[in-house]
Amino acid sequence: MPKEFLGIKYLTKNDVETLINKAIQYKQNKEAYKDKLKEKNIITIFFENSTRTRTSFEIAAKKMGAEVINVDYEKSSIKKGETDFDTIQNLSVMHPDAFVVRHFESGYPYFLSKFTNIPIINAGDGTNEHPSQAILDLITMKEAKGNIENLNVCIIGDIINSRVVGSHLEAAKMFNWNLSFYGPKTMLPKQEWIKNIKIEKNLEKALTDKDFIILLRIQLERNSGQNMPSLGEYAKFFGINDNNIPKDTYIMHPGPVNRNVELSSKTMDENDNILIATQVENGVFARMAIYDFCLN
Ligand code: NCD
Repeated sequence: MPKEFLGIKYLTKNDVETLINKAIQYKQNKEAYKDKLKEKNIITIFFENSTRTRTSFEIAAKKMGAEVINVDYEKSSIKKGETDFDTIQNLSVMHPDAFVVRHFESGYPYFLSKFTNIPIINAGDGTNEHPSQAILDLITMKEAKGNIENLNVCIIGDIINSRVVGSHLEAAKMFNWNLSFYGPKTMLPKQEWIKNIKIEKNLEKALTDKDFIILLRIQLERNSGQNMPSLGEYAKFFGINDNNIPKDTYIMHPGPVNRNVELSSKTMDENDNILIATQVENGVFARMAIYDFCLN
């Protein structure tokens, strides 16, 4: 039975562990994923910009033997006025095996899933969830630390605009993390929305005694610029650099990084505890495991 992949909130802990273990198995052994999607057709539709996510969904599918068809939103009939659900219904009767969808509106993949019985894989929706990012982050954490239970994690940055946080909140509950947030007050959620999550008092406290720090991009396209005085000021009060980088903590960032804003360019290039490239590498295996979960 094909399954959807709409958000971490719809998965069980067992599902998430299965995805992580499968991805690690695929990373170690090419033979384990080869031809697993032979004769399958995957359609990707990205209504929002993407480099890593789209490419890694495509590479993952191709490495597993599938054909990938990318619908270019800018050149699609949606631009001629066709409704999104008509588009999905028309593509559905061509019988692809899955749709990978990114959209700027929260809940959009869930909405589309009501108009098709082809599995929808959420590649990030508005400020809601980015579940494949959470899976690849969990794989990266498991590789780095050996386990993902009871971790001390602080997420720093533009929390209210981040769909990555939406998925991490679910992972934090599943794996009993001690999770905290830090960032400009204008980018932090109201306390009552996030019961049990500590807001750190200052950057020094945010960087102390953590297993992982997850930095988030300042989302200029979502008007985060209005919520802070300047990028320079952000870097000064919330950025990581050679002077404050904690030595025994892993630093992660979903990318794309605003160099010299969330993280100093030099620090980013010269520290072994920065896992950003490993996250991207693991993204391919995470997406392979997601296809396997949905299609096999
Ligand atoms: C994230 C996204 O698009 O949600 N990036 C990604 O998928 N790697 C985070 C971001 O854009 O800041």
